[in-house]
Amino acid sequence: MTTQQTPAIRVQGLEKSYNKLEVLRGVDFEVERGSIFALLGSNGAGKTTIVRILSTLLKADAGTAGVNGFDVADQPGNVRESISLTGQFAAVDEILSGRENLVLIAKLRHLKNADTIAEDLLERFSLTDAATRKVSTYSGGMRRRLDIAMSLIGNPPVIFLDEPTTGLDPQARIEVWQAVKELAEHGTTVLLTTQYLDEAEQLADRIAILHKGRIIVNGTLAELKKLLPPAKVEYVEKQPSLEDVFFALVGDEDEDSAPGNDRSAVRTK
Ligand SMILES: Nc1ncnc2c1ncn2[C@@H]1O[C@H](COP(=O)(O)OP(=O)(O)OP(=O)(O)O)[C@@H](O)[C@H]1O
Ligand SMILES: [Mg+2]
Repeated sequence: MTTQQTPAIRVQGLEKSYNKLEVLRGVDFEVERGSIFALLGSNGAGKTTIVRILSTLLKADAGTAGVNGFDVADQPGNVRESISLTGQFAAVDEILSGRENLVLIAKLRHLKNADTIAEDLLERFSLTDAATRKVSTYSGGMRRRLDIAMSLIGNPPVIFLDEPTTGLDPQARIEVWQAVKELAEHGTTVLLTTQYLDEAEQLADRIAILHKGRIIVNGTLAELKKLLPPAKVEYVEKQPSLEDVFFALVGDEDEDSAPGNDRSAVRTK
């Protein structure tokens, strides 16, 4: 049963440990359909673990997760039909051209008119000019765009992007951001993980910070910025950046304090 009323992603009380390491300790969040949701967290916070659970690659120890109205534990086949996952390393075939990569995936998915699908995606991701070149000649940004384009074949309603721009230069990052924005404009729900705070600022409708196994804040950029008072610098009001909010909540060091206590670490001038 898919229902348009349910959120695209719903996570409740998710827990996951690797042996004694408690990575997720009760994670809750929802992602509205057609929105971009950014999951922020330091290295090892558990972002990829959440993405792996949501994409049915890993089982949670406790809690529930639903994608596109399907339960990841009870209806994994339906969940897999509803999603695509783009991992950190581009999964494109270097020897093939961009067009050939797209046609290959469309054929593997038993879609008719694979050629038309490939042309449309090349156009949408500004790869038409490079369509016939081997991917080995593509820049990092082009590969990443092709990778995202490939993951859209079959029109999955929900797409997971695990650190989509890690390792890309600023120009390539902007190109990928544009591609991600276009996804949401087409109605696709995007859950992305990132360590780049400006990426979340640029792209996300909502931002959640995962810290010590839980989501410690979840809101729009404006809501997150309201968590800190503007700092006064010689009569000029300075609005906190998302980076200020992130470090105030997470703390610069890994001291074992509750998120609320970390706010005392806010630096004001
Ligand atoms: N299969 C595994 N076995 C044991 N420990 C694991 C396994 N997978 C992940 N971990 C540990 O769980 C923690 C969370 O890992 P995860 O990959 O989810 O973090 P992340 O937020 O994606 O980090 P990064 O930003 O570095 O990608 C880390 O401490 C990691 O070492
Ligand atoms: Mg990760």
